[in-house]
Amino acid sequence: MQAFVRPHLCRTPATPRRVTSGLRSLSTQRQSTSEPRTASFGFQTVPEEAKEGMVRDVFDSVAAKYDLMNDASSLGVHRLWKDEFVASLRPGRRGPQKCIDVAGGTGDIALRILDFAREKYACRDTTVDVVDINSQMLKEGVKRFKKTMYHNTPQISFTEGNAQQLSPEQFPDNAYDLYTIAFGIRNCTSIPSVLREAHRVLRPGGTFACLEFSRVDNPILSTLYDQYSFTVIPLLGTILAGDRGSYQYLVESIRKFPPQADFAQMIRDAGFKTGKDVDGAAWVNLWGGIACVHTGVKV
Ligand SMILES: C[S@@+](CC[C@H](N)C(=O)[O-])C[C@H]1O[C@@H](n2cnc3c(N)ncnc32)[C@H](O)[C@@H]1O
Repeated sequence: MQAFVRPHLCRTPATPRRVTSGLRSLSTQRQSTSEPRTASFGFQTVPEEAKEGMVRDVFDSVAAKYDLMNDASSLGVHRLWKDEFVASLRPGRRGPQKCIDVAGGTGDIALRILDFAREKYACRDTTVDVVDINSQMLKEGVKRFKKTMYHNTPQISFTEGNAQQLSPEQFPDNAYDLYTIAFGIRNCTSIPSVLREAHRVLRPGGTFACLEFSRVDNPILSTLYDQYSFTVIPLLGTILAGDRGSYQYLVESIRKFPPQADFAQMIRDAGFKTGKDVDGAAWVNLWGGIACVHTGVKV
């Protein structure tokens, strides 16, 4: 295999931006032109164009402590969810796969995909392109991969880019077998735009897979979970990362994300085929719906 070295972050070139009205969110399209376009930033309503910068500030602020905070705030449970997410996709089972992990942050999912393919199927040709809008998060990912066997191999790359508008030069149509996005899509201004881009870059028959916080049906679990998230997580943010506001946003953004069936419909609206609208088909709830895996296949 030809050596392929990509030691630094790749930046999406600034020029070829695809700005079309087709990439606008449905809610945006419904607003009249005289009304300012808005988006939710946690429980706040902010001008649509401001959200991206505000989300970027959150992840700039948390990047260095992101992995530590994830472990502390979920008591390590996020690792189990991510393991289950990747195991359910069985990367490498049918031979090498070309994967893209969007909003991939510090590379948690990418590392699991590569490890799973290698450990389960002795596959060393599966590749993952990690894309994230935040260079600080990607830098943490590069640092982490330097300690792994994948560093300086064609199996991994890190690129700065926006999930809503991937560069067609770097991420062409019909290029990937598997598209993953974990705990990332709720931070994006337009979910339909992210899904449309996912559909574009996947080959026909390719899989879209999203791990995200979701809705808890059980009222007792829901109350306990609410109390935990709105008190403990911002407090941990203050103690461990010196940043209460960012963690308050992260908790609030979970509550603004559409419930399972609504998100499954959005995935279908983007052109994917999903299972039926029940737990175990279009989506699989983890821990009673605290987190949830949605999948769809490009038809
Ligand atoms: C909660 S972190 C999840 C990181 C990683 N996927 C994980 O599971 O650990 C959310 C990530 O989404 C990224 N993000 C937010 N908006 C984005 C966008 N529009 N395009 C690409 N990445 C985005 C953030 O920079 C951040 O790294």
